[in-house]
Amino acid sequence: MLIRLNVLNVSKKYQTDALKDVTFNLYDNEFLSILGPSGCGKSTLLRCLIGIERFDSGKVLFFDMDKEIDITNSRPRDRHMGIVMQNYALFPNMTVKNNIMFPLKNKKLPKDKIIKIVDDILEKTNLIEHQNKYPNELSGGQQQRVAIARTLVSHPDIILFDEPMSALDASTKIILRKFIKEIQKLYKISIIYITHDQEEAFAMSDRIMVMNQGEIIQIGTPNEIYKNPINDYVRNFIVNELNEKVRSILESIK
Ligand SMILES: Nc1ncnc2c1ncn2[C@@H]1O[C@H](COP(=O)(O)OP(=O)(O)OP(=O)(O)O)[C@@H](O)[C@H]1O
Ligand SMILES: [Mg+2]
Repeated sequence: MLIRLNVLNVSKKYQTDALKDVTFNLYDNEFLSILGPSGCGKSTLLRCLIGIERFDSGKVLFFDMDKEIDITNSRPRDRHMGIVMQNYALFPNMTVKNNIMFPLKNKKLPKDKIIKIVDDILEKTNLIEHQNKYPNELSGGQQQRVAIARTLVSHPDIILFDEPMSALDASTKIILRKFIKEIQKLYKISIIYITHDQEEAFAMSDRIMVMNQGEIIQIGTPNEIYKNPINDYVRNFIVNELNEKVRSILESIK
């Protein structure tokens, strides 16, 4: 498996330790979820990775095939990453199309190239019929699709999701889950995905990272975590919270 991102001993202190010596790899095309209670450092980790927050110590390496690039001090736009937040963060006064086009505005690309890229993404994200609407004319699920489309124009290798579904109803969540998995395949991206929803993490992920109080407690496949929770915390907070449906799927895996 090819490594995409190598996070090494990342620590960050506010009044308390938000991240303590966080070390993990993210692999090529991997879907990695982060589970953990409120305040355990999940959002801080994503903000540090994309570079909108500085960390105090540690290193982040990005891999492009065999080429290792130290992005510890790079500008956010040079980190090969995009981020999608819970609240969509679309520009309310711009149409869907202009929202999606926005990241390309400063890139000095020829106009016909920009139009080609945006039209292609509108098509692949199923947004053509909504392209001239404003965000307030769209449902929450559609707005989130626009937010995802907007990150795709910059051709990220990694997309970070910070609880992208927590404002959506159950049936929209199911549709958007499928959408995110399809986009991941189509664009061959790696994903780090924060969620509060154990079921969602188990259904979507290649691996799950369990955090508590700024530290990684366990990282493994859903099956590994289910079968061998490393301590009582993981057992109580994750495994015992899973519903019957997820359990029976996991039980069937040897
Ligand atoms: N800008 C900030 N200034 C001071 N403290 C902060 C700041 N951002 C986060 N913290 C603190 O760092 C810790 C981790 O916060 P973080 O937002 O990363 O948690 P989280 O796991 O994303 O929680 P939630 O699930 O509620 O979103 C918390 O104790 C929080 O109070
Ligand atoms: Mg958070």
